[in-house]
Amino acid sequence: MKDYSTKIAYITGGSSGIGLSLARELVKRGAKVVLIARDRDRLEHACNALESLTTGRHRNVSIVSLDVSNIDQVREMLPKTVELSGAPDILVNSAGIGYSNYFERIPYEKFMDIININLIGTWNSITVLEPYMRDKGGTIVNISSIAGFLGIFGSTAYSASKFGVIGLSEALRGELKRYGISVSVLCPPDTDTPQLAEENKTKPAETKALSGKAKPMSSEAVAKACIRGMEKGKFMIIPGSSGKVIYLEKRLFPSLVNWRIDILIQRAQRDLKKNGIY
Ligand SMILES: NC(=O)c1ccc[n+]([C@@H]2O[C@H](COP(=O)([O-])OP(=O)(O)OC[C@H]3O[C@@H](n4cnc5c(N)ncnc54)[C@H](OP(=O)(O)O)[C@@H]3O)[C@@H](O)[C@H]2O)c1
Repeated sequence: MKDYSTKIAYITGGSSGIGLSLARELVKRGAKVVLIARDRDRLEHACNALESLTTGRHRNVSIVSLDVSNIDQVREMLPKTVELSGAPDILVNSAGIGYSNYFERIPYEKFMDIININLIGTWNSITVLEPYMRDKGGTIVNISSIAGFLGIFGSTAYSASKFGVIGLSEALRGELKRYGISVSVLCPPDTDTPQLAEENKTKPAETKALSGKAKPMSSEAVAKACIRGMEKGKFMIIPGSSGKVIYLEKRLFPSLVNWRIDILIQRAQRDLKKNGIY
């Protein structure tokens, strides 16, 4: 296991799900973490849980309550955090929201929320924190999704935001090399977190049919795969085997992937019609 005892990790979305699991793994490895999210109660709860894992007298976990999609808050609060806690060696952009529904049922406001938090929020934290990372170098991990390289039925807004995160990361990867900052993008499959539970409330039946009986991954397994990928300096980190297969198939045989998806969707729609739901 790599020594993280001199490392500081800033984790947006660190109060829940994948971000919190990543924070836990990094704290266990000796890192200091700064958790960033909106809800202060959830942040404090996460902070206490993580502090209980540490044995030293120094505080290893701090929290910042802000909305990553609000550039004024990000510009005001993150430099102050750097002054107090030090510049990040690792920046993980995990703050995000999910929403799944038919295109015509996603209102403009929802679409904009998803783009503003998932994509613009990622840009916001990088633009403020990356200059502080230049002297010592470091790692930036942006969280996209399988829906970031495969347009998924019911995910027009979410896929648009997550394709954007991959594009941003891929372009940035080359640019930040000169500062010794590596950029990775994590593309988890369905993961058992509050976000997935929220998405499932409005997910179209066709989208559920596409996932079939596949069990979501645990956020702990995703976090461990992320750390392994980061340590190997991988750009594209895809936890689990099915996501890796989809990624390769999509690159090599895009028409075949679309054809298979269309068949599954048609089947689901036939069943819905039979049951009088469609
Ligand atoms: N779960 C999945 O199946 C899955 C699959 C692929 C990718 N992902 C991606 O993985 C990342 C983490 O998702 P998760 O499943 O772990 O979700 P989660 O458990 O709902 O956690 C989301 C985190 O983001 C924070 N957040 C949301 N909006 C924010 C904002 N505007 N400003 C600051 N913080 C904000 C939340 O705290 P507050 O609400 O208090 O702000 C929370 O800490 C997301 O980018 C998600 O799209 C998830």
